[in-house]
Amino acid sequence: MTVYNPFNPANTKDPYPVYKQMREEAPVWAGPLFGEVFVSRHADCVAILRDAERFSSDPSNLIRAEELSPQSIGGVFLSGKVMLFSDPPDHSRLRRLAQHAFSPSAIEGWRPRVRALATDLLAEYGPGDECEVMDALARPLPVVVIAELLGVPVSDHEKFASWSTPLARMIDPDTNMVESDYNAAMLAAMEFVGYFNGLIEERRGSPRDDVLSALIAAEEEGDRLTHDELLINLILLLIAGHETTSNLIGNGALALCEDPVARDQFVADPDGLARTAVDEFLRYDSPVQFTARTAKVDVDVHGVTLEKGRQALVMLAGANRDPAAFENPDQLNLTRTPNNHLAFSNGIHFCLGAMLARMEGQEAFPALLKKFPNLARVNDELVYRPNMTLRGLAELQVTG
Ligand code: HEM
Repeated sequence: MTVYNPFNPANTKDPYPVYKQMREEAPVWAGPLFGEVFVSRHADCVAILRDAERFSSDPSNLIRAEELSPQSIGGVFLSGKVMLFSDPPDHSRLRRLAQHAFSPSAIEGWRPRVRALATDLLAEYGPGDECEVMDALARPLPVVVIAELLGVPVSDHEKFASWSTPLARMIDPDTNMVESDYNAAMLAAMEFVGYFNGLIEERRGSPRDDVLSALIAAEEEGDRLTHDELLINLILLLIAGHETTSNLIGNGALALCEDPVARDQFVADPDGLARTAVDEFLRYDSPVQFTARTAKVDVDVHGVTLEKGRQALVMLAGANRDPAAFENPDQLNLTRTPNNHLAFSNGIHFCLGAMLARMEGQEAFPALLKKFPNLARVNDELVYRPNMTLRGLAELQVTG
């Protein structure tokens, strides 16, 4: 039997051949570990993501829920309801509370600030300079935005940013974690909670028009949000809002370095292409490679039985290269329309921050190309971060 392992660290540099193989040879593949199935075709992924009746996002529905290490994301989130890992009605309640801050008009209101920030972050670079894109732009831009959105004072931004990387490892499959990863994540979570408990107390007396104040108001009413839910959903916003968007910027910048024709096309019309280009980066090299759903009943997934309590691993990045859904899927096409990619998922958990992430990308890439119109890679060897769920570079040295 062929064993497909998209989580093998050997595939980190280029996971797309194994996704292709899975789509062609075993689109619904029963994995050897926990009775899970890997689903890699676009239509099958969409069907699962839209079927909230039979598929759950709540880890307590997992048959092996009791086996989850208390430090794993499943283990941690068994103790409190976090939007991403809950089902209706809890999911609807939590999502509604945060929704207001992510409305189209609220996000457009942030655009001038994001534009200024992207320009400022790159201000020190001149013609011919080398720039490490991850540290200069991709990491700081989203973290400052999410910190400001949550109302974290500027003096604490660095501290806030430092918790994100260890916390982001918590959403990887257990098999890819070592003890030091757990310990670093736990320490970051404890510091985060300590810090936010202080900020919450401070903000109670002087509410503002921000996400934190809205969530505190809901918590004070008692029946809408518990204190644990408040904290754990703040952690979600940090992880979801930071690492993902950093990787959109890093993966997109790399895609442009690898394709000078597309780069020149973008440079010629940055404002005209920004919207379709950002969605194409999301499709072409997706920041979130996969998500998971647990079967609430025995389900037939394209001829393969998924038992109740077992997981479907929905390979978003594999679906995004499916030739049945995209013409020339392995080709970067900055004007691709329509572009029904699954980088932000689909169904009731469709990314709450999609509009924000897109807007950040639409500002970041033109700012980068203005400084480096001949954007090109300096380092020969690409180094990726060890995360499996969130795909992104450790560094990307460019010039141009
Ligand atoms: C390029 C950047 C981003 C990508 C690729 C991305 C991707 C995703 C995906 C795939 C999901 C759903 C997973 C599932 O169905 O199980 C999701 C959910 C979510 N994202 Fe994003 N995300 C990005 C940026 C953001 C930002 C900037 C924020 C907010 C600051 C955010 C907040 C959320 C939240 C709160 C959820 C949970 C929604 C729910 O469960 O209803 N994301 N994101």
